[in-house]
Amino acid sequence: MRGASSKPLLRALAGEALDPPPWWLMRQAGRYLPEYRALRARTADFVTLCLTPALATEATLQPIRRFGMDAAILFSDILLVPRALGQSVGFAGDGPALDPIIDAAGVGTLALSGIASRLGPVFEAAAQVRGALPEQTALIGFAGAPWTVATYMVEGGSSRDFGRVKSWAYREPQGFAELIGIVEAATIEFLAGQIAAGVEVVQLFDSWAGVLPESGFARWVIAPTARIVAALKARFPACPVIGFPRGSGVLYERYAAETGVDAVSLDTGVPGGFVQARLPARLPVQGNLDPVILKVGGAALREAVADLRRGFAGRPYVFNLGHGVLPDTPAEHVAELSRLLAEPRSPS
Ligand code: CP3
Repeated sequence: MRGASSKPLLRALAGEALDPPPWWLMRQAGRYLPEYRALRARTADFVTLCLTPALATEATLQPIRRFGMDAAILFSDILLVPRALGQSVGFAGDGPALDPIIDAAGVGTLALSGIASRLGPVFEAAAQVRGALPEQTALIGFAGAPWTVATYMVEGGSSRDFGRVKSWAYREPQGFAELIGIVEAATIEFLAGQIAAGVEVVQLFDSWAGVLPESGFARWVIAPTARIVAALKARFPACPVIGFPRGSGVLYERYAAETGVDAVSLDTGVPGGFVQARLPARLPVQGNLDPVILKVGGAALREAVADLRRGFAGRPYVFNLGHGVLPDTPAEHVAELSRLLAEPRSPS
């Protein structure tokens, strides 16, 4: 029997340049899969799906059965952390709805103690999935990074301009730092529990990292991420951390240099030339097919996949999208992607 280090994803994250590259897709579980829609239809609500280990395990395994990705990502959500801290979080209509926290009094209602037990079902799902995966398939756990989670906590949901959360951060940075500090501590507990239960890699989703100027990026993206990585490394030195500071453009360079992450996930807008010129040659990168190209399929998909593989040849690379699978993506296009990735790399 081969050991865990023969899993292609773990080898790439340890610095090996593999061809074909290992692959998985952000949001690989979800509404584009008929079997997910069926599971969702017989579950009262999305939070129940996340917090019932047998159901979360089933949702995690669905894309693996169909497409055989090199990694499963535990079925869960970044907003389980504010919920475990005591904020009300719902997923009823279009996207999430939270009771906004807008000041120190709101921060005072959050409770760190006991959060690990409130997140216990996620850890139980991690253990179940780990026991059910094929031998070469790695298990990824995740959390939102504090800045991105705080945007939802303060705005009360998705936002267009992030006016409330930015105003608070600029007007009263010390007060806002209290909120970030609580989310950071909760995130460490959330990820540590997942790793202890069996996840082999964790990814920090900072989906809204790209809306901050450099000074805010340093304080609210880089610094909390660096503290989370340091805390996890102290307890689980062998577990790689992937950082995804979506939309951060040239600030990817500072993020890679200053956070201590083992790999960076690239959004669709990051050019391969920038990566090769400005990110360390031995830093593993993941990404960054436009999710719309996966939805379109056909020649556009074939060409884009070949371009990415050529562009990242010779460096440790994990194939992925630049953001999550779109709900109206034909599942057949994901099957086609898996066939394309299994072929040898085409010459220029
Ligand atoms: O990648 C996977 O397959 C694992 C599951 C996963 C979900 N959410 C399940 C989910 C992951 C990795 C996430 C991360 C997440 N959640 C992020 C970061 C990544 C990103 O997309 O930027 C964010 C910002 C959230 C918060 C969130 N959860 C939003 C904004 C929404 C509503 C929008 C939407 O896509 O529906 C959710 C709900 C959600 N999380 C769904 C799923 C499958 C859909 C809920 C449903 O089935 O009704």
